[in-house]
Amino acid sequence: MKSLIDKLEREQILSREEFISLIENHNPELAGYLFERALAVRHRHYGHDVYIRGLIEFTNYCKNDCFYCGLRASNRNAQRYRLSQEQIMDCCREGYRLGFRTFVLQGGEDPWYNTDRIEDLVRTIKSEFSDCAVTLSVGEHPREVYQRWYDAGADRYLLRHETATAKHYSMLHPANLSLENRLRCLWDLKEIGYQVGCGIMVGSPGQTTENIADDLLFMAKFQPDMVGIGPFIPQHDTPFRDKTAGTLELTVFLLGIIRLMLPQVLLPSTTALGTIHPTGREQGILAGANVCMPNLSPTEVREKYALYDNKICTGDEAAQSLNSLKKRMESIGYRVVESRGDRAGRMIQ
Ligand code: 5AD
Repeated sequence: MKSLIDKLEREQILSREEFISLIENHNPELAGYLFERALAVRHRHYGHDVYIRGLIEFTNYCKNDCFYCGLRASNRNAQRYRLSQEQIMDCCREGYRLGFRTFVLQGGEDPWYNTDRIEDLVRTIKSEFSDCAVTLSVGEHPREVYQRWYDAGADRYLLRHETATAKHYSMLHPANLSLENRLRCLWDLKEIGYQVGCGIMVGSPGQTTENIADDLLFMAKFQPDMVGIGPFIPQHDTPFRDKTAGTLELTVFLLGIIRLMLPQVLLPSTTALGTIHPTGREQGILAGANVCMPNLSPTEVREKYALYDNKICTGDEAAQSLNSLKKRMESIGYRVVESRGDRAGRMIQ
């Protein structure tokens, strides 16, 4: 199996069968070797720097009804909130003061936050913080809409593909959502010029090793600038409340594989990873991740952005606790840096 890891490092790709056997044979010893190689590649491109993003969860209204997500439209128990533009600007001001140079605006697909309002929001943030990157993560929209937001100054877009297999996609989503449209969105975003992130939940209900291999092959073809992966975690008000969560072990193993396959990718060690294990985020960094996304949302609304159960939001993952995040990273030999943190090797227009 180590020879497969060497081959992946050398060629940045494996066949579907090779990915399947690598994943199925993952064990602590193999993981140790994978992480050693993944870190060597990571250090070549990013040294020991950890980029930070201020995550602003600005609305939890959502018109979609994804089976896994606590923000799904039919969840009557969700306490809905929506931040005003001024509240969002205050989050950015605080974030800037703390050292953040990327703001991630994440929300459900909220019809009130329509094309015009998000366009205005992006323009306003970019005019006050011209040295910062703005990342949008607000779901599926027509190409024209993505173009308007890009023209307003948005730099990056996160849209996890969730799974590259249509049959699996339909197990996770209602019939009005399709993998085809999801992928259309991703290709449009890329053509427009955004730095684009795709990604999956590890251990989502119905996910097979074959599905994961096909996700990796999709990533190899799409060549994203960013990949967001974290374990699936059940949420008690969703149809998947009784499903089992994804594991830390498989998630970090996949982080290592992705680092070798996409050497320069921006790879966050996600909140979901920090939720399933107290040192989950450190373990993600030690597997090859190079980004952390502390929460910058106002404290009062954080608990309401309940994608899944027990989501951490007031401890060290809070932007306000940046000092303890810095110490944690230093304790494992890394350093949080104050920069936009664009993808290495990318020309910025
Ligand atoms: N567990 C883990 N991740 C989840 N997401 C949504 N619901 C869950 C859950 N129950 C992830 C999805 C989505 C991102 C914003 O959060 O992958 O794209």
